[in-house]
Amino acid sequence: MIVAKTLAVVPSLLAGDLARLGEQLEVVKSAGCHWISVDVMDGHFVPNLSFGPDFVRLAKKKGFYVDTHLMVTNPLQVAPWFVEAGTDILTAHIEVLENPAEAMKQIRKMGVKSGLAVKPKTNVEGLLGAIENVDLALVMTVEPGFGGQKFMADQMPKVEALRRKIDAERLDCWIQVDGGVNASNIATCAAAGADSLVAGSAVFAAKDPAAAFRELEKNARAAVQS
Ligand code: DX5
Repeated sequence: MIVAKTLAVVPSLLAGDLARLGEQLEVVKSAGCHWISVDVMDGHFVPNLSFGPDFVRLAKKKGFYVDTHLMVTNPLQVAPWFVEAGTDILTAHIEVLENPAEAMKQIRKMGVKSGLAVKPKTNVEGLLGAIENVDLALVMTVEPGFGGQKFMADQMPKVEALRRKIDAERLDCWIQVDGGVNASNIATCAAAGADSLVAGSAVFAAKDPAAAFRELEKNARAAVQS
């Protein structure tokens, strides 16, 4: 398995304490974190409402690389708001895209990297088919909508299939896993071939988020060095 990129542990803002988000971002930054994931939910595609573009602005102002995970029914309509806010990657769900490859091309034309996500019940075939146009392939390991859910290990074959395809075609594409990732399962994700590991509660709900972040990184990296 070629891990094309240095593994990144990516704290998810959804699990942050809104009363002290800026402070929490500084804490994980001090632990070496450089990438934050912002979960956008529209109360329609998922039964929850979350953040708007201002939260991307906050993370960018703090100096982070940012992926915006659009759990919305109309990703291409709202995309420009998050591009304007400075997001580096825009991820849309395949379940709401008529033509995933075309949608990824449109996102790239906006000047940001394209991300394509699959929910647990969605197979990985569509994502594999569009992979040439994808800069980040996201495999959800929970039903999207809420943090703090249980990790779904049965999603790892999708990660393995993506890793095989990306390595075989030498593509420059992140494989991201998101949902229920913690210190006890992050090695499983990395060993399956994921190199971008989103963790919300495991970081921001920890007593010591900086230490939690460092432990996640250590466990993930150990899995691909062995
Ligand atoms: C769920 C979100 C996840 C979530 C991860 O819909 O997409 O990013 O915030 O949170 P944890 O790591 O707590 O499952």
